Amino acid sequence: MRNSNRGAVDPFIVMDVMEAARAAEDAGRRIIHMEVGQPGTPAPAAARAALSAAMQSDSLGYTVALGLPALRARIAQLYGEWYNVDLDPGRVVVTPGSSGGFILAFTALFDAGDRVALGAPGYPSYRQILRALDLVPVEVQTAPENRLQPVPGDLAGLDYQGLMVASPANPTGTMLDRAALGALVGAAQDRGAAFLSDEIYHGIEYDRRAVSALEISDDVCVINSFSKYFSMTGWRVGWLVVPPAQVRQFERLAQNMFICAPHAAQIAALAAMDAGEELQANMAVYTENRRLMLEGLPKAGFDRIAPPDGAFYVYADVSHLTDDSRAFAAEILDQAGVAVTPGLDFDPLRGGGTLRFSYARSTADIIEGLERLTAFMAARGAIKGVGPADPAAG
Ligand SMILES: Cc1ncc(COP(=O)(O)O)c(C=O)c1O
Repeated sequence: MRNSNRGAVDPFIVMDVMEAARAAEDAGRRIIHMEVGQPGTPAPAAARAALSAAMQSDSLGYTVALGLPALRARIAQLYGEWYNVDLDPGRVVVTPGSSGGFILAFTALFDAGDRVALGAPGYPSYRQILRALDLVPVEVQTAPENRLQPVPGDLAGLDYQGLMVASPANPTGTMLDRAALGALVGAAQDRGAAFLSDEIYHGIEYDRRAVSALEISDDVCVINSFSKYFSMTGWRVGWLVVPPAQVRQFERLAQNMFICAPHAAQIAALAAMDAGEELQANMAVYTENRRLMLEGLPKAGFDRIAPPDGAFYVYADVSHLTDDSRAFAAEILDQAGVAVTPGLDFDPLRGGGTLRFSYARSTADIIEGLERLTAFMAARGAIKGVGPADPAAG
């Protein structure tokens, strides 16, 4: 049968790495997973209990397209708790993950051919979903001195109808502070472009709290999800906050595209929002894992890294070790049994010289992974003459 041209998007390389890791596990190897961007923990116990109870008494049919009213109200309450923002629940749109939120937002806000500016490195699916919708991703090469986040100067002279940022970002974990985020919101609004803020890693922040675009303006589209802080990746539930005048446009599209986000997941998500203690226990694990990574990666030889402000990733410059991050990641998987993600996923131009390490899993796995990486780099260094002294030469 025929294929569309717009459907010919690039693969999500990390999914290919996950598949290679799975094949190695099937062959009997123990693999340490530093590739996956997902918590190793299940949904909070209260979320699972709430769903279990609902399954006994509720037929769990479709919900209304914008989501369960109680969930929308609880999400609005979160904006008061986290950001001191008074949010009308009527502006919350519950989506099938933030991934469903991207499809909905891009379709509601843009026409075919519209250009959407994104910082590179960035989450790969932004550009692939944009392409699949006949939109044009305009990638801006961000600078290390701006901690790989876009600044208005990067956008000067660019034609774009939308600007999308993420803070904390994937793959770097860096955040935009209030002034930096405000400057980008202003740059987009000054030219009549839509501003989209991916806030999926909010809640997973270390030394300072993440700023929501809603603290700066109501005329923005915020994207969030239960996948990360709430530890519910596979449940496929997320949300958008949209300007009041645009709710109906999003609703009409959501009715037709998805009918609703999974009802069962919405029930679990509502209960997850009150599982503060368990979620804070997960945060304590990420905090310890981050400390171990920042100490252990440089010792292993991955010393070109910047401390992440949030999320659970370290993005390493390995351009002194390779210009083919895909082959390097395959070598690390093969020889060390550690799955890591090649930077090419996040930055087609410069990602040949970068790797992303995820520390979302258990602390025991992080310790073992760092030991394996250290041994791998020592062996590789001895072979290539760039690591510890070659014993044969001494
Ligand atoms: C920055 C970012 N946005 C969105 C997503 C998609 O998340 P989900 O569809 O599970 O909400 C991810 C997943 O890793 C991500 O890293």
